[in-house]
Amino acid sequence: MTGANTMHTHDLPSAGLSASDPAELLAAVLRANAGTSNARLKQVMDALIRHVHAFALDVDLTPAELDLALDFLVRIGQASGPRKNEGILLADILGLATLVQLRGAREALARGGTEPALVGPFWRAHQPVRAHGESVATADTPGAPLLVKGRVCSLDGSPLVGARVETWQASPQGLYENQDPEQEDMNLRGVFLTDAQGRFHFRSVRPAGYPVPVDGPCGELLAAQGRGVMRPAHLHFIVVADGHKVLATQYFDIEDPHAHEDVVFGAVGSLLRRFEPDGHGGFGLDIELRLEPGEPHLPHCPLP
Ligand code: BEZ
Ligand code: FE
Repeated sequence: MTGANTMHTHDLPSAGLSASDPAELLAAVLRANAGTSNARLKQVMDALIRHVHAFALDVDLTPAELDLALDFLVRIGQASGPRKNEGILLADILGLATLVQLRGAREALARGGTEPALVGPFWRAHQPVRAHGESVATADTPGAPLLVKGRVCSLDGSPLVGARVETWQASPQGLYENQDPEQEDMNLRGVFLTDAQGRFHFRSVRPAGYPVPVDGPCGELLAAQGRGVMRPAHLHFIVVADGHKVLATQYFDIEDPHAHEDVVFGAVGSLLRRFEPDGHGGFGLDIELRLEPGEPHLPHCPLP
């Protein structure tokens, strides 16, 4: 028998676990997951359980720290809505979005496919379809002219005709139109359909880099980490073609001061480009978008 206020390991109820044995606890949690009928969910949850237990042991996580972490996650949810997604931003600043995207494309990359980059939170549904050569910038958008020429092809180099190329970018002030009352709706956004050679081209203005949103819990984390908050200047693309996996990518201005310190780790390898001077104050960017054959699955579009 034990006294009323003392509890010993052997008094613990039902499960019969030894309270001091993390391995027994882990085994019990994994047994509780064993009945998950969806095989992939079971695999993912098994791994997640193993990793979070190992993580808590590794850092010797205290109850107060666990409370803090759970409160952080609650606030990530509370800071998210139809116009802002702090969850996407968290995956981005942890490098998780880039890791998953590069991993998903590893076979295509080994065969010469275009490097992907994260979609980010600023892609909008219903971007306007524009004619070849049209400008995505309204006449009153200030900035150095930029001519973008592109070709969409399969991994074997054959042109993809009628492919849908979505593009969006920030202004030379580093703002997307949905963040900036000075810009017209859908400014610096467009959709182009490739011609018989798989080509498209459009005019724009040279974008500027910008800070990721720092008014939420991710901003607190970045500050606590003493990290920068900038993304180097870039243009986004999402390419959809029949019989091919969807390609989401970005091209970055290699001359941007933050070209090698993208806060969301998207500015990698071949995606860093020189915007070539045209001799008249403008710039040019030539790109080839090489898609892997497969099923097209559109990523979630974060903004209406
Ligand atoms: C973007 O490229 O639009 C972006 C990506 C991640 C976080 C914030 C913005
Ligand atoms: Fe962006």
